[in-house]
Amino acid sequence: MPGTSNTIPQDIAAYLKTQEEKTLLRFITCGSVDDGKSTLIGRLLWDSKLIFEDQLATLQADSKRVGTQGGDIDYALLVDGLQAEREQGITIDVAYRFFSTDKRKFIVADTPGHEQYTRNMATGASTASLAIVMVDARKGVLTQTMRHSYLVSLLGITHVILAINKMDLVEYSQATYSTIKTSYEQFATNLNFQEVVCIPVSALRGDNIFHRSPHTDWFHGPTIMGHLETVDIQSDVSQKPFRMPVQWVNRPNLDFRGFSGTIASGQVRPGDIIVAPSSGKTSQVTRIVTYDGDLDSAETGQSVTLLLQDEIDISRGELLSAAQARPTTADQFEATIIWMHDGPLLPGRKYLLKAGTRTIPAQISELKYKVNVNTLEHLASKTLKLNEVGICNISLDHPISFDPYRDNRQTGAFILIDHYTNATIAAGVIDFALRRADNIHWQSVEIHKDARATLKGQKPFILWFTGLSGAGKSTVANMVEKKLHSLGRHTYLLDGDNVRHGLNRDLGFTDVDRVENIRRVAETAKLMVDAGLIVLVSFISPFRSEREMARMLVDEGEFLEVFIDTPLEICELRDVKGLYKKARAGQLKNFTGIDSPYERPDDAEITIEGATQTAEQATLTIVKALETQGLIPSS
Ligand code: ADX
Repeated sequence: MPGTSNTIPQDIAAYLKTQEEKTLLRFITCGSVDDGKSTLIGRLLWDSKLIFEDQLATLQADSKRVGTQGGDIDYALLVDGLQAEREQGITIDVAYRFFSTDKRKFIVADTPGHEQYTRNMATGASTASLAIVMVDARKGVLTQTMRHSYLVSLLGITHVILAINKMDLVEYSQATYSTIKTSYEQFATNLNFQEVVCIPVSALRGDNIFHRSPHTDWFHGPTIMGHLETVDIQSDVSQKPFRMPVQWVNRPNLDFRGFSGTIASGQVRPGDIIVAPSSGKTSQVTRIVTYDGDLDSAETGQSVTLLLQDEIDISRGELLSAAQARPTTADQFEATIIWMHDGPLLPGRKYLLKAGTRTIPAQISELKYKVNVNTLEHLASKTLKLNEVGICNISLDHPISFDPYRDNRQTGAFILIDHYTNATIAAGVIDFALRRADNIHWQSVEIHKDARATLKGQKPFILWFTGLSGAGKSTVANMVEKKLHSLGRHTYLLDGDNVRHGLNRDLGFTDVDRVENIRRVAETAKLMVDAGLIVLVSFISPFRSEREMARMLVDEGEFLEVFIDTPLEICELRDVKGLYKKARAGQLKNFTGIDSPYERPDDAEITIEGATQTAEQATLTIVKALETQGLIPSS
């Protein structure tokens, strides 16, 4: 009888060995509780005898108490782990469950189906090879079915089971089944599925889950478990070209130099020619070393150390690849991303991109459009919010090697991380490399920064003033410039209000626009430093990230942050331009300090107490600091 025992065999070693030799299928179930998703998973666990006695007892008791199945066992209770969720009737996070049959091992990712849980579903789908999309036979293909299928396709799952559930409630009607099957197949032609297998089921009654249903003799396809046990997923990865991101370069002594990592796709054998794509250098594999000795060949998923014939320069992060099937190496690509963070996407901001074993600073250089995940419509947008999907161009500080995700899920995916909080803020798949950079080279110029600066007899640098509106930035910056000018220095002052009349006249004061405002002015300041000038920049520049980005654009020692630290109350009291009054009256939106944030610097080179120091005193402090640092000669 199913579910009554789960005794571990006497011969533990033999048991473990058979478990180890079975292939593993990861799959995801998509649908809502109403569609019977949890019931289906519960049924799979139950019929594969993987429910422990104590769980059973709880289940029977719970079924009686909650009573949705009139005293029968409610399989959904097995899965809807938390008490609170049970009572609300929804599942809230990604839960991974392990079970096995004689033929295979399985890990099922169970994610909630609501739109606000898109990120959870994307997480679950990213490692799955198959998706069970559930529909209720009485309702057919719904908006959420399309959303789930789109996400499944986006994350590269090509094997789909369309489980048409609750067939018992439509008298096991073949006509109902056929109508739903046809409409789903029609919709799925827009997606990248390799196969869609439609199965009429009743998760509650067990029809066509493990056993063929006596009620659907018109159906000749597999049962759910029959298909899960036999679907071929191994060839999906092993037939891909060889790829291995180098985790570390293993050099215990001068005679041994190996490259260690986990094989992301394909296989490798001694004698194979591999390439280090960043340099294009090739060599032959001489040995495959593991803790258990040398191997004749190694497969996807194995951790190995490769020894090569030639001494070629390979460092951590390199994607060792089959020489006859090379990956793309580029520093710009188009990607589809799912935003997973509460804060919005800010194009132009520096994020960290993690792909394989590499982590590189990256910017979304352009958000082309976002996708309405329910209708697949393209919508114009400047930003993405939590759970939204967008198509964008990404530019990296250094090139990386990758494959488009459609060709290789292991080497075409990445996540974006916030610099400061380390939180994962987005997950993405690479569509294709952008070739526009290929034809734009650096033109070599013969007069360099040093030559220009020498002619001016000065060291170029950026003096970056930050602080609230009305803090006194522009007044002080103006006085410092006058002083430097009088000392014979060549300067230029970039002031927020002025630059916003020209170069940045298209930008407003949303977070997205402020990030772009600072990105442009930082790039301009960098060019001016290159021209040999002392550049004074006076912008509110409210975000730490963008001030840091500006600092990173120039050489060490060429960037000094000056924080004009004037308390909000004083700025508001001064209200030179009358803007605080307008903002308080609600006539001016997104005003810094009122309804838009200001992130105080915590490591500014110079801090001026705006409340107590006069502009003259501040100027003196700043000029003195420049002298002390050797940036200008002492007067
Ligand atoms: S920043 O935040 O993007 O760095 P920036 O320094 O360019 O701002 O511009 C700030 C100036 O724009 C302020 O000094 C003020 O005169 C004016 N301004 C108009 N609207 C706003 C607003 N909503 N928030 C802040 N400043 C504003």
